[in-house]
Amino acid sequence: MTETSQSPELIRYPYAPPKEIAPSVWVLDGTWSNSLGRRMTVIRLRNGEVWVHNPMVLAQAEIDWLSTLGFVRCVVAPNRYHTTDLSWFARTFPQTQIACPNTYFNHGTELKDRVLFTTDVPYVTPCRELEFFDAPGVRLEESVVFHLQTRTLIVCDLMMNVKREGSWLRQTFYSFNNMGDCCAPTRALKWFLTSNKTELLKFVEQLAELNPRRIVVNHGEIYEGEGGNQIRTSFASLFR
Ligand SMILES: [Fe+2]
Repeated sequence: MTETSQSPELIRYPYAPPKEIAPSVWVLDGTWSNSLGRRMTVIRLRNGEVWVHNPMVLAQAEIDWLSTLGFVRCVVAPNRYHTTDLSWFARTFPQTQIACPNTYFNHGTELKDRVLFTTDVPYVTPCRELEFFDAPGVRLEESVVFHLQTRTLIVCDLMMNVKREGSWLRQTFYSFNNMGDCCAPTRALKWFLTSNKTELLKFVEQLAELNPRRIVVNHGEIYEGEGGNQIRTSFASLFR
């Protein structure tokens, strides 16, 4: 056992075992400090590199699992609201490089010399298997990821797909926030986090043109289907 070893009962936010949702793409569905939960996504490239999106503190079994998948090349904290477990992950995988929001980078992190790119700039892996898009027009500092082979789009807070269930109060809030049984942007994104609607909608069209066959969201269910249509229609109906 290493100094970072964790037994499952010590994990603050438990999660489900890794699930392969497409060839070489896995997700770990986790709980979090709120009812929305969260999701970590793992992608293995053809050269054996492993990329981790939205890291979570893991138990030893999943640390070992990741290590057996391949060399963990980079861990991505996808936006400014999802950086809490990045330093733990980086300490646990000391050879791994980092992608993080500029805000995090500028807060004097000890990980600065390991930053491969920040989420306010685009990045493409050398074999073009993974493309990272910096989302403009929103105050998220979010990097949206597209895995070409499986046409999987991974978003963090740009869209959610949360089930409308639970108490009446919760369902009312979800409904008000354009959440519930639909993969879509929230009203909070529109009202509080959008800085330039024109830029955002232009970017959204760029994502729709990719026509992903699935959209992996950080909060809620994975959307399977014609992702291009879903992106276009859901943004158009909220931002009209
Ligand atoms: Fe979030």
